[in-house]
Amino acid sequence: MEKSILSDYRELKSIIDQAAEVAGYIWQKGWGERNGGNLTVDVTDYISTYLPAISSPVSMELTLPHIAGRYFYVKGTQKRMRDLARVPMDNGCIIRITDDGAAYVLVADKQVKPTSELPSHLMVQDYLRQTGSTYKATLHTHPIEIVALSHHRRMLDDTTRPNVITRTLWSMIPETLAFAPLGLGIVPYEVPGSVELAQATLNKIKDYDVVLWEKHGVFAVGQDIMDAFDQVDVLNKAARIYLDARILGSEPEGMTDKAMKDVQRIFNLPTVRNN
Ligand code: 13P
Ligand code: ZN
Repeated sequence: MEKSILSDYRELKSIIDQAAEVAGYIWQKGWGERNGGNLTVDVTDYISTYLPAISSPVSMELTLPHIAGRYFYVKGTQKRMRDLARVPMDNGCIIRITDDGAAYVLVADKQVKPTSELPSHLMVQDYLRQTGSTYKATLHTHPIEIVALSHHRRMLDDTTRPNVITRTLWSMIPETLAFAPLGLGIVPYEVPGSVELAQATLNKIKDYDVVLWEKHGVFAVGQDIMDAFDQVDVLNKAARIYLDARILGSEPEGMTDKAMKDVQRIFNLPTVRNN
């Protein structure tokens, strides 16, 4: 049965309201200082009538064929999460990728310029479409405790699977492993907003739902923006427990390998991305 424009509008509004809710949590957690962090959500499924452009095309200097013609709700550059929480359409915008996949136009509803991290968000969204993923949302934020850990070289060792930071976080409480079963990928430091950062993020997100941007923040994907937020929240909670335990002086004991394997087995947790 055809959906009515009104039911589309209701669904679109609920997706944008969810982005606003998450933006509020990010501010409350102290992860969104000033304009810190950004997000995108693929809202194409909720826009059944063609929305005319309100800007001329802006070249992305990338061609992303799998998201050509698609619509995204995007945080505006220099816009604050705490403001987006209150007024999402003044602090974010809806863009459409042009049919050649090489540019975007604004379609709603103010002249808000999209986030400077658009290359990472859209390259990952393009990959998600290409692979038939059901994930619709991407989130970049600055969670304090995870970023703090990324200033310790030992935590950036990525030569084992799970890597050192993932094993450390998983070993804090069983829920970390249960709700962030793929762990935390590591993206070495790159200039914010750069295509190099986007490319490195894309390479890692193939194996992880959440990746660390060394000495900067994290980038996460999820079914929706709440799902992406939850995974970051779970991992950052473990980082907080690690740091609190570390204050007592010695390296925290952590759960044993056997205890972690038991959690993996009992909950039948995925070890590779399947969406
Ligand atoms: P924007 O204000 O352009 O979204 O940038 C914030 C940020 O966190 C950059 O990494
Ligand atoms: Zn940032």
